[in-house]
Amino acid sequence: MTDPRHGGIAIIDFGSQYTQLIARRIREQNVYAEVFPHDAPPDAINYHHPCGYILSGGPNSIYEADAPQVPSHILYNDRPILGICYGMQALTHALGGRVAASQAREYGAALIKQRDRSDLLSNLPDVMRVWMSHGDRIEQPPEGFVSLAQSDNSPYAAVGDTTRHIYGVQFHPEVAHTNEGTAILRNFLFVICGCQPRWSTAAFIDDAIRSIQARVGDERVLLALSGGVDSAVTGALIHRAIGEQLTAIFVNTGLLRKNEPEQVVRVFRDEQGMNLIAVDATEDFLDALRDQYEPETKRKIIGGLFIDVFAQQARQLGDIRFLAQGTIYPDVIESAASSKTAKTIKSHHNVGGLPDDLRFELIEPLRDLFKDEVRRVGSGLGLPDRIVWRQPFPGPGLAIRCLGDIRWERLETLREADAIFLDELARENLLRDDTAQAFAVLLPVRSVGVMGDNRTYEEVVALRAVTTDDFMTADWARLSYDLLARVSNRIVNEVPGVNRVVYDISSKPPATIEWE
Ligand code: XMP
Repeated sequence: MTDPRHGGIAIIDFGSQYTQLIARRIREQNVYAEVFPHDAPPDAINYHHPCGYILSGGPNSIYEADAPQVPSHILYNDRPILGICYGMQALTHALGGRVAASQAREYGAALIKQRDRSDLLSNLPDVMRVWMSHGDRIEQPPEGFVSLAQSDNSPYAAVGDTTRHIYGVQFHPEVAHTNEGTAILRNFLFVICGCQPRWSTAAFIDDAIRSIQARVGDERVLLALSGGVDSAVTGALIHRAIGEQLTAIFVNTGLLRKNEPEQVVRVFRDEQGMNLIAVDATEDFLDALRDQYEPETKRKIIGGLFIDVFAQQARQLGDIRFLAQGTIYPDVIESAASSKTAKTIKSHHNVGGLPDDLRFELIEPLRDLFKDEVRRVGSGLGLPDRIVWRQPFPGPGLAIRCLGDIRWERLETLREADAIFLDELARENLLRDDTAQAFAVLLPVRSVGVMGDNRTYEEVVALRAVTTDDFMTADWARLSYDLLARVSNRIVNEVPGVNRVVYDISSKPPATIEWE
């Protein structure tokens, strides 16, 4: 059986904010797509034998001195090419056509009208609504190209050389506002490139299992299991491939949510039959966090201690060759991008930074997958919904939601309040797409209240619920007043020591999602 990544599309990135979206749209058609920087080596770009290339948009003007150019190995290797926006202008420039600044910039919705018939726009309406975002336009297409569609602003809204199978569109077929965008991409994939729809969850699982088996042989693999989706799916996949040769270490930091440690053990050890070492390091973490209030210091302490506990367990297991990590595709793209952006807002941690005596080879079977694909693989491997649909949870756990003293009793208060909030959201089915993340925060102040004619002076809980696609920006969720009232009422009644509940209505930016 062939690798399901073979015969897909290589996307050459010129820096558009929509490049990842192009990859997603193609994968939704069961065709593998991978993004490469425009100056990536040809061997890397062609590693999975793509059927064709898509050149993304980008912020440059092609006639600027240092504007990125279409690599010549792509232009002349006979595979079909589709240039989108800047990609189309770069193609035009490379093949001898002319691009210039346009009198009228086009941003937003526009209508295009088909001209010469082509495979790219076949079986589509004559007039289509598309999404434009460009200042430059094509003045003269290269030799051999004809106009396939025009807009009010340009006679060359889409162009093509149907002999060489090179096409360009000035608009963005990957965004939802381009009504026929998916149909246009499908024409490119299936009619022009002749791709086969091979990329599916089942195909991915089969292939990943075979390659894990081939790589690991009879060696052993170690995994830090947090209970989060990515490490859970990584574990389940590797376990399916090599069974007993996988050992997972789960560290209970005492900073997890209500019932989480028990749930991890039940699902992975009891239900999945995984070789799981569960370490209760609660006391160590609480000791280390005593009298610590500064968020970055807390993060550093937790990250460092986590590595110490993990390393100690790993040493006891003897010689293990591989370490599995739940790296996923957005992490790969983000870490490539973040090497250029300097500012640290918050230091995140994973199992990087292990001491020198523990040298592992990394196994990252989910490196090519988007989050929704990871969830599908998890379900395909039989993981329960409550793991597969778990919301993101920060590495430092409740320590960055328990402001002020981190004591066991305060963590318990926070856990109870948090569980009530999540329970009420789950009852209204709001925990999947509607609220990307929701949690309670215990504030470092006490406030006065009155209960049963008596004065109280107790803890304050803040509720945080956000909507977001990428966690880089976020808005506060417009939860109904009735729901908020129920949650508030239950918390003050059911959680001892809390007499006030507030709802956080800050967006990100300027706030962040977590409070610390
Ligand atoms: P912020 O608070 O930066 O959070 O807006 C964005 C997303 O990142 C999560 N987060 C973390 N995840 N380790 C993690 O693995 C961390 O140290 C960490 N800090 C924040 C946060 O929960 C949200 O989903």
